[in-house]
Amino acid sequence: MGEDIFSGKTIALGISGGIAAYKAVDLASKLAQRGAIVKTIMTEHATKFVSPLTFQSVTGQPVLTDLFAADSQGKISHVALSEEADLVVVAPATANIIAKAAHGLADDALSTTLVAARSAIVMVPAMNNYMWSNKATQYNLEILTSRDIKVMQPEVGRLACGEGNAVGRFPDTASIVSFLEDILRKSHDLAGKTIMITAGGTREPIDPVRFIGNRSSGKMGYAIAEAARARGAKVILVSGPTCLNPPLGAHTIYVETAQQMYDAVMENLYQVDAVVMTAAVADFRPSSSGIEKIKKERMPKSIELELNPDILQAVSKKKGNKLVVGFAAESENIIENATKKIKKKDIDLIVANDIASPGVGFGSDLNLAVLINKKGPVGDLITYKKTELAEKILDWVAAHIAVSSISS
Ligand code: PMT
Repeated sequence: MGEDIFSGKTIALGISGGIAAYKAVDLASKLAQRGAIVKTIMTEHATKFVSPLTFQSVTGQPVLTDLFAADSQGKISHVALSEEADLVVVAPATANIIAKAAHGLADDALSTTLVAARSAIVMVPAMNNYMWSNKATQYNLEILTSRDIKVMQPEVGRLACGEGNAVGRFPDTASIVSFLEDILRKSHDLAGKTIMITAGGTREPIDPVRFIGNRSSGKMGYAIAEAARARGAKVILVSGPTCLNPPLGAHTIYVETAQQMYDAVMENLYQVDAVVMTAAVADFRPSSSGIEKIKKERMPKSIELELNPDILQAVSKKKGNKLVVGFAAESENIIENATKKIKKKDIDLIVANDIASPGVGFGSDLNLAVLINKKGPVGDLITYKKTELAEKILDWVAAHIAVSSISS
């Protein structure tokens, strides 16, 4: 048996002021028993429910309650903890701390730790059912999930306030521990691997001003790049023009045309373990493009086109034991057409993507998609948030890269 995933990991455990704070003592204790270094941060309200000494006793670590406390090296404790934590967990998370985190408020030791955190953050909400379903709370939770903060769903059952069979219950310790285990595992399952991702659309110039392009926003590729970084991979992102901020920690190479994307991908191919190609590459380009802007009076009657290189096909020919994942943007017979593409392009996985249904695909935050490997579809064609689809693709990559990788 390998080492416990919690062993030696520093968990910053935030306790906010709800009755479930007393249940978090068991959580702190179980995490400590698994070998985690559990450093508790309590809000003032939380200390009304449970004494800091209780957490100190079960974790063997000092408990932070004061925003201005300094550690033994004189460093402000919440800043030091934000730096050293492998995971920040707020359990229980009240409506108040959820609202503060969503809006970046930092006025006590816990909310400040959340703003300064470098690691993944997990919220385990527990509250009265009306507070849970309140639109402000739900809106704040949406903000948190859009920033990739993981939110564990509360359970349905009897609430401390007396409500019976209502949503808002703090999950049992075993469920929380297993949720955290999953997140910790994913936080480094691609460590030591290099993944190249193509994103966005290409632009094929007609003249210095005009181009042939497409509606790709880059969201899908950037979501994969960000998720791969969070899972410990070194990321090379080859991006067409987008309005998105470059993912933190990724090496982003900006290109405009399909030929430039081809050059960047082929130049870096030797150093990667996996390639994920989400880019909407223009299949063809104008055969010539002038250096001067075409005047209205000299409008060409037609534009002659020539084929661009097929980057995915070229990668596939040189893949060796690298994993190659492609996308298939389809408007009809989605699974059938994508299955033809995985065979034709001889790649490991294709993400069949319905770009014709309303509200999904190009520019949207959603993709209606299914993963297809050489044996057939892995799951059903369903609507994913692009961030969720990114994780799903990387789950597949992480599960297969170990046996295929050149650098492992
Ligand atoms: O950027 P977003 O707004 O988030 O939108 C995401 C997306 C809809 C662009 C994305 O999810 C998607 O479906 N990308 C694939 C787009 C596409 O060009 O599909 P295709 O079926 O034409 O190409 C198949 C595969 O070959 C793709 O992996 C593509 O990157 C690759 N290709 C295509 C042509 C070419 N000349 N070179 C290539 O490498």
